[in-house]
Amino acid sequence: MINIGVMASGRGTNLQAIIEAVEEGRIEGKISIVISDNPDAYALKRAEQNNTETQYINFKEYKSREDYDKKVVKCLKEKEVDLVVLAGYMRILSPYFIKVYKNKIMNIHPALLPSFPGLRAQKKAIECGVKISGCTVHFVDEGVDSGPIILQKAVEVRDDDTEESLAERILQEEHQIYPQAIQLFSQGRLIIKGRKVFIGE
Ligand code: GRF
Repeated sequence: MINIGVMASGRGTNLQAIIEAVEEGRIEGKISIVISDNPDAYALKRAEQNNTETQYINFKEYKSREDYDKKVVKCLKEKEVDLVVLAGYMRILSPYFIKVYKNKIMNIHPALLPSFPGLRAQKKAIECGVKISGCTVHFVDEGVDSGPIILQKAVEVRDDDTEESLAERILQEEHQIYPQAIQLFSQGRLIIKGRKVFIGE
């Protein structure tokens, strides 16, 4: 059983999928804390409804990104978190944070990385005219959406797709692969070699 710390800034549908996977035993782990930089994040409400501890940390109270992350790391350490799961967390992590939790921070991105990193990936995919996009779970390194890839799922881009309709179909797949990736981590099956992640027996 691993302790999971989730960081979320928004509506928290991925958090909800993780909560349900934990409840149903598809993730052998416990969500020990949900941390947000946004006091109004619906993710915090979802956590509370699930009797999960939450913590809002106000960025304005800290001098720098690193100072802020020191506070976040302190909270995670207090909860003995083994894996940090970014679920729509809108802040870039400091090198300090990434060093402390090296290879223990995951993110989900709504495109098939390395295509379309950064914000509004679904819009970029439509504008580029790709026929297939999707989602990616990856470990977090110092770059933007650039760490070793754990799982991906492809989603067809339709001629009449809007940013919203594509985002919605990708989201359904995010809710499948994020819990799967967390469970693989929990089982100790993710082996990182350089840029590659191998899934062990
Ligand atoms: C998702 O599209 C995810 O891929 C991206 O942020 C969004 C979070 O959505 N990283 P939600 O808050 O989990 O609903």
